[in-house]
Amino acid sequence: MSLDAWSRVMSDEPTLRTAADERGFNLGAAVDPNALRNDPSYWKTLRSSFNAVTPENALKMGPLRPSPNTYDFTDADAVVNFGVANDMYVRGHTLVWHNQTPHWFQAWDYTDDQLREFLRDHIHTVAGRYRAKIDTWDVVNEAVADDGTMRETVWYDALGEEYLDLAFQWASEVAPDADLYYNDYGADAINEKSDAIYDLLERLLERGVPVDGVGLQLHALGDHPDPESVAANIERFQALGLEVEITEMDVSFPADDVPDDPLEVQADYYRSIVETCLEVGCETVVTWGVNDANSWVANFKDFPERFTTEPLLFGGRYEEKPAYHAVRDALEN
Ligand code: G3I
Repeated sequence: MSLDAWSRVMSDEPTLRTAADERGFNLGAAVDPNALRNDPSYWKTLRSSFNAVTPENALKMGPLRPSPNTYDFTDADAVVNFGVANDMYVRGHTLVWHNQTPHWFQAWDYTDDQLREFLRDHIHTVAGRYRAKIDTWDVVNEAVADDGTMRETVWYDALGEEYLDLAFQWASEVAPDADLYYNDYGADAINEKSDAIYDLLERLLERGVPVDGVGLQLHALGDHPDPESVAANIERFQALGLEVEITEMDVSFPADDVPDDPLEVQADYYRSIVETCLEVGCETVVTWGVNDANSWVANFKDFPERFTTEPLLFGGRYEEKPAYHAVRDALEN
């Protein structure tokens, strides 16, 4: 951590979190429980600079369920309890997803009715446990394919589109005070996929499904969605009566097409999105990691191309990057 950051942390000098708190804005980070436990700079930076947390992996079905009859909440509790203890806004991610299912989970072991009961039990168990601690849930993650069709996941194949209705209903039964969100990537601006998500949410609302909001992940790795189109996209979901949050933001560049002065370009883009959110009444931006050394981007193997791997507000040694100052400036002015 840089000396000026340390001095800010050790004193009561205003920090990035101060700026967010004073603006009534949720500025968050995705959290790794091991870094939280083992690296004081990590949790000091998290606590002093952010007022919102999301467990990056610990609340997903696979990490939670080491065997068919056991749940292990150790890592999820570490992140959620850190957020609660430090008066932070806590986002739960995610109750229903087609990725990171348990290693022992094989769909063919279950009938459709058994999958329905499996999913109900999972949602009731997990969302029920955190009833008093998690403010907002990503109930269903990435149910729409990149071409705008419904993604053919184990849940969709077994239950059809109604799996979303059921998931939100079951979550609302055990976490009545939490805001319940649909979350997805590649749908930040107005495009074929966000059109399809808009239509899906319209259908859910028409069916009386208790959905409160839409999470736009905003993984701006190669493409940086145009802020004006992001604004228009946010506003059309708001016009449906839904809240909108930016849930997983990071900003990077194609490794073979890095602009001159990338840190300044990155800072300008973070600033433009925070300013856009402030303008249209989106009150939450979560960055997908505390600092560059803990970003998923460097380790992810399934990218179609290579991206630069310093996508966050803090550098590998927790140094405040231009993006940090740009976000703080946007919140303070
Ligand atoms: O915990 C195991 C460890 O025991 C093992 O030794 C190691 C090597 O196999 O793997 C570790 O699990 C990894 C896990 O991250 C925790 O680090 C998984 O392999 C790896 O696939 C997993 O990647 C996560 C990815 O979701 C999975 O699709 C990333 O950390 C996480 O940032 C990323 O987050 C997703 C959001 O949930 C949804 N939106 C997209 C976003 C980026 O893909």
